[in-house]
Amino acid sequence: MAESTQTRPGVDKIVERVVALLREARERTVRLTGPVTDEDLQLQHNPLMSPIVWDLGHIAHFEELWLNRNVHGTVEFGEMPGIYNPFEHPRRVRGALDLPGRDEVLEILAEVRQRVLEKIETLDLEAGDPLLRDGYVYAMVAQHEYQHNETILQTLQLKLGEPYRAPRSIVLPEPGIDVSVGSMVRFPGGAVPIGTNDRRVAYDNERPQHLVELRPFQIDVAPVTNGQYLEFMEDGGYRRRELWSDAGWTWKETDSADSPKYWLRVGSTWHSRMFDRTGPVDPRRPVCHVTYHEAEAYARWAGKRLPNEFEWEAAASFDPATGEHRLYPWGNAPWTPDKANLDQLSFDTAPVGAYPLNVSPVGCYGMIGDVWEWTSSDFAGYPGYETFPYPEYSEVFFGTEYKVLRGGSFATRPGAVRNTFRNWDYPIRRQIFSGFRCASDD
Ligand code: AVJ
Ligand code: FE
Repeated sequence: MAESTQTRPGVDKIVERVVALLREARERTVRLTGPVTDEDLQLQHNPLMSPIVWDLGHIAHFEELWLNRNVHGTVEFGEMPGIYNPFEHPRRVRGALDLPGRDEVLEILAEVRQRVLEKIETLDLEAGDPLLRDGYVYAMVAQHEYQHNETILQTLQLKLGEPYRAPRSIVLPEPGIDVSVGSMVRFPGGAVPIGTNDRRVAYDNERPQHLVELRPFQIDVAPVTNGQYLEFMEDGGYRRRELWSDAGWTWKETDSADSPKYWLRVGSTWHSRMFDRTGPVDPRRPVCHVTYHEAEAYARWAGKRLPNEFEWEAAASFDPATGEHRLYPWGNAPWTPDKANLDQLSFDTAPVGAYPLNVSPVGCYGMIGDVWEWTSSDFAGYPGYETFPYPEYSEVFFGTEYKVLRGGSFATRPGAVRNTFRNWDYPIRRQIFSGFRCASDD
């Protein structure tokens, strides 16, 4: 057979998989931004967030950088050029950049993608290069788009004026099991494998897998609900200095916070807003849009503390009875809509107990989905950490400024969360879809 007509069985399969991955990621980006007005795409709605067209242009340029420029096996990776370099242009100034309009940015996205599809046919995705092997860099680019989808949803939740008409297509189930909120399960401690050695999708900050020796601890069976959080509020939680750290008190005073973000007092009851829906706070749902400081104050009020990220991961992934280690709380099977409130299209949190399958080996519900959960851990590299493929994803954020969040929210795409996935943010941030669960010493 002539060389040019030979098929490449292994490679072609990987190509097929990653091309489908990229296509599906883009379909979602287009679906989420479809209902957004041109004006709302262009505007910088808040200093904390980019104009949405910036996110879109940045998605395109990140794809161009990694799937067209950096796939050549060069030793030196290029950097993001121009207005889409996030370090040269921090979020608060992006509204002043010379940004494209909707049609123009969609064209750029399509044009980059076209060249990616041509380029991929010339590459060997089975060779030794860890960037290309098994299509790693394609999974990385898809996850980047997923993560910017969630960022865009934060912006749409934050924006003032006409609310975003959320294209809801997942109807949230009612509780199918009675989970006793506030009750805890025991994790017996011991040496637990944390992180992963996976090189197909995991980020550098999830590697390498290593044993962490844990003391026995207790952890909540469910995330803290609005109902529980209201008790804290009604008990003077926001007024009692002793419940707050110095930094937490300073944040609260400066922000004049007396409730989670997007809560509004209506007469004698609290209402909350999720995109275009406002109504009385549902006591059965996990509390959302709280800072690390609020989570910490609540935990102190409850006589508990926040889990560190290793305790969180152990409770989500490890079966102390068998030594089994799971990719997701429910097992190793990929997410499906019956397993957890993920993938954006519900546009809200679900009542605790709505996903009976979403339970970890030790009996924790809802660890993945609904809300990101604050942990007490600073974001740091694991022992033996090696930057791959670029330091600006993880390494430049290591230190004491950021706290780790785990488990994803309803606004997270399933491809961008797993038991080992680590998110991070400043402890004063709450435009993210953040909640928490508590732990305590055994
Ligand atoms: C992992 C969510 C903190 O949004 O800053 C997007 C993800 N990194 N583009 C962020 C990310 C580069 C990142 N977080
Ligand atoms: Fe980015």
